[in-house]
Amino acid sequence: MKKMLRRMVVLAMVVFMAGGAAQAAETVVGVDANFMPFEFKVDGKLTGFDVDLFEAIAKEIGLDFKWQTMDFNGIIPGLQSKSIDAAIAGITIKSEREKVVDFSHPYYDSGLIILVAADNEDIKVLEDLKGKRVATKLATTSEDYLKKNVDTKELKLLPNTDNLFMELMTGGVDAVFFDSPPLLYFAKNQGKGKVKTVGPLYQGQPYGIAFPEGSPLREKVNIALLKFMEDGTYDKLYEKWFGASPK
Ligand code: ARG
Repeated sequence: MKKMLRRMVVLAMVVFMAGGAAQAAETVVGVDANFMPFEFKVDGKLTGFDVDLFEAIAKEIGLDFKWQTMDFNGIIPGLQSKSIDAAIAGITIKSEREKVVDFSHPYYDSGLIILVAADNEDIKVLEDLKGKRVATKLATTSEDYLKKNVDTKELKLLPNTDNLFMELMTGGVDAVFFDSPPLLYFAKNQGKGKVKTVGPLYQGQPYGIAFPEGSPLREKVNIALLKFMEDGTYDKLYEKWFGASPK
């Protein structure tokens, strides 16, 4: 009887360890496939600046990984619980987040901007959002910024970028306030003639790749990222996605 019990314990340990090893082999990288032109899907395939950049980094450091698409608001919690090993999703480096995750060096300078209907004449700057219905993405720096700086009539927090545009186009909100790249991209493409961006860029937003605290992957990624900035790889990707060289 005792012998059988011992065997069962050993078997359980082997199964447990094998599971651990299988998990360790596969690096999971979180991404929100709804943030053009950084990460989005074309014919079901993940593409964009962040996607190209991380794939190039992974190749450089010999990292086997798989993408895990998720809503943006799940990314920081996913890193904290280590259900993902890294994330690249236009994530702004900010103090509150630095307390709970680790960031790479910044790889892109962004900012926040206002998007309105093409025929809107009364919203031109942030102050004009006072008393208006505004949409932004849930759990982002824009949510924080709006709550701190504008007394809106209604603040719609949506998990998906496409829904922000839908709300604006169908008149559900008067303006969208969010990271400039996806808004500029939408204004130039699907939203052409229907929407426009107004005002200056509000608040600098350096983007970084994020990791669980203490992740050994961060330094490797940082070295590859800096190398790419030195050898022209970064500039090539930047030009591919933003049509200009980085300043
Ligand atoms: N930069 C903003 C933030 O970090 C918004 C990022 C949204 N990214 C995305 N993939 N949806 O809060």
